[in-house]
Amino acid sequence: MTTDPRWGDVERFLTGTLVTEDAVLAGIRERTAAAGLRPIEVSATDGALLSLWCRLIGARRVLEIGTLGGYSATWFARAVGETGRVTTLEVDHRAAVVAQENWREAGVADRVEVLVGPAAVTLRSLVADGGDPYDLVFIDADKQNNPVYLQAALALTRPGSLIVIDNVVRGGRIVEDTDDPDVIGTRRVLEMLGSDPRLQVTAVQTVSSKGWDGFAVAYVLGQG
Ligand code: SAH
Ligand code: DHB
Ligand code: MG
Repeated sequence: MTTDPRWGDVERFLTGTLVTEDAVLAGIRERTAAAGLRPIEVSATDGALLSLWCRLIGARRVLEIGTLGGYSATWFARAVGETGRVTTLEVDHRAAVVAQENWREAGVADRVEVLVGPAAVTLRSLVADGGDPYDLVFIDADKQNNPVYLQAALALTRPGSLIVIDNVVRGGRIVEDTDDPDVIGTRRVLEMLGSDPRLQVTAVQTVSSKGWDGFAVAYVLGQG
């Protein structure tokens, strides 16, 4: 895995200088790790970027796929404001319980809901329910299902919505010849993004304390 210790040094400097994660967010990170969940939540600078995007588009309804301890969902909950709603999907019941405790501590429990179960199944029922479209969808769960999640995200959004996919570079593995289902799922979702005339897309490579990775972002132009 390619890493450089300066990536973490710079991340800590930028976080301290620009973002200053407050005690609530730091507490979420700590309780997530203490509960034995993997420490793979987004960085504070990434959380701030997700929040900025919400504010830029005036997002009121956010859908997240992959909750973990509720760290990124808390950034979203703060960004959508008191009258906004965040729905987040998680397969691990234990993680969902930790996340709900964290949202209570953060004072945002009233605007965040976790739906427990395999996200592909939950998404099928959300599509069937035909509720109001989401303004922003953040895809950050099992990477092999990324194509399924994008398909659902397209059905659950409207022109002007944003779709963001985390972890699309994975230390450069994305361009390796491999049969890793996570890599195949992510490469496939990038191909889907790049060939869909309803979307304006790009991806950004990132380096941080967690190594070399990146995210893709898609703006929904129209219904095709
Ligand atoms: N978005 C979170 C991190 C999510 S980590 C944050 O930044 O704070 C990925 C999460 O996806 C894990 O909690 C994992 O349990 C969950 N996950 C994995 N496979 C899943 C599936 N099939 N359906 C729903 N959630 C899944
Ligand atoms: C992994 C998953 C993530 O969503 C992430 O942000 C980092 C790592 C993983 O499965 O390794
Ligand atoms: Mg991620």
